[in-house]
Amino acid sequence: MSPPAAEHAPGLAPADGTAARARGLTKAYGSGETAVIALDSVDVDIARGRFTAVMGPSGSGKSTLMHCLAGLDTVSAGQVWLGDTEITGLKDRELTRLRRDRVGFMFQSFNLIPTLNARENITLPMDIAGQKPDEAWLDQVIDTLGLRDRLRHRPAQLSGGQQQRVACARALASRPELIFADEPTGNLDSRSGLEVLGFLREAVDRLGQTVVMVTHDPGAAAHSDLVLFLADGRIVDEMHRPTAESVLERMKRFDVVRGTTPSDGGRRNAVAPDEGVPGAETPGARDAGTLPNARPDDGRPDASPPHGGRQGSGPSVGGTPGGATGVAHPGDGAPRAGGPGGAQGSGEG
Ligand SMILES: Nc1ncnc2c1ncn2[C@@H]1O[C@H](COP(=O)(O)OP(=O)(O)O)[C@@H](O)[C@H]1O
Ligand SMILES: [Mg+2]
Repeated sequence: MSPPAAEHAPGLAPADGTAARARGLTKAYGSGETAVIALDSVDVDIARGRFTAVMGPSGSGKSTLMHCLAGLDTVSAGQVWLGDTEITGLKDRELTRLRRDRVGFMFQSFNLIPTLNARENITLPMDIAGQKPDEAWLDQVIDTLGLRDRLRHRPAQLSGGQQQRVACARALASRPELIFADEPTGNLDSRSGLEVLGFLREAVDRLGQTVVMVTHDPGAAAHSDLVLFLADGRIVDEMHRPTAESVLERMKRFDVVRGTTPSDGGRRNAVAPDEGVPGAETPGARDAGTLPNARPDDGRPDASPPHGGRQGSGPSVGGTPGGATGVAHPGDGAPRAGGPGGAQGSGEG
């Protein structure tokens, strides 16, 4: 079944098609009285070639949304498309191949293989798939991520920022259609976090990649073109052309009105969108692949989320109607530009 025509759903109007789409996406964990509705009939469009951030309190369904859109987790009801392919209903095998070929992942905990060096980690998903990397592309990725002189190092010999850059390169190696990053800066110091955000921005602006990133941090969200706000398993708000300040303001306002919004179904305790609730995440998506320890989300509290909220590279992509703030993107605050950011290819065999 092809995607439904463009009725309104949160998300950017597709500039260049829709990279992912969900209609009536519902995900329940457990059953009966103990059932948790992690996603409650979510409609969303992820525009191709854009950088979308997903924010919301711990437990609001951010990771679940990402996993369901990426085909890492099954849905309870509703439909999900990756490009024109409806993935709900695909057989495991087909889903695995689709994920491997078309989606890249990045996690808070990097998920590198400790016994492999950086280069081997980068090409692992493709090696598993029996695919040959495009060497010219790989060179570009490695150079822009500043990993040229680190390729023989193992993860333990690399800093956190370098490890996440390796994870970026791994995600980008196969040029996936869509990159999902679940709090990719959550374990990084602010400088490394800004670097990674700059790379993700570059991946969108220069390489035409599509990025969906879960974050708690308004500063990180400010690198995106669009922020989707999740609460109690629903998308309750969206903001185009975000800045750190406007996101923070929205979160405060959101927090204030939260008790009266229909979205607050009372299924869970209200938690300020500002998060700061460590240990509350209990994701349970299917394993991301053959990568050992490739848990989609390690549930660790944010170590030191980067702040600063500067746009990674120049103005946001145009055509973002309904800009809630009208505030122009601030200039480039990333310490380094010129690199693709990315995700890990899930390495299913
Ligand atoms: N495997 C699971 N089993 C049971 N409940 C789960 C599982 N994964 C997530 N949940 C619940 O679903 C809700 C959404 O979780 P999650 O998507 O991880 O939220 P977020 O990423 O926004 O913190 C939470 O209430 C969480 O406890
Ligand atoms: Mg999460």
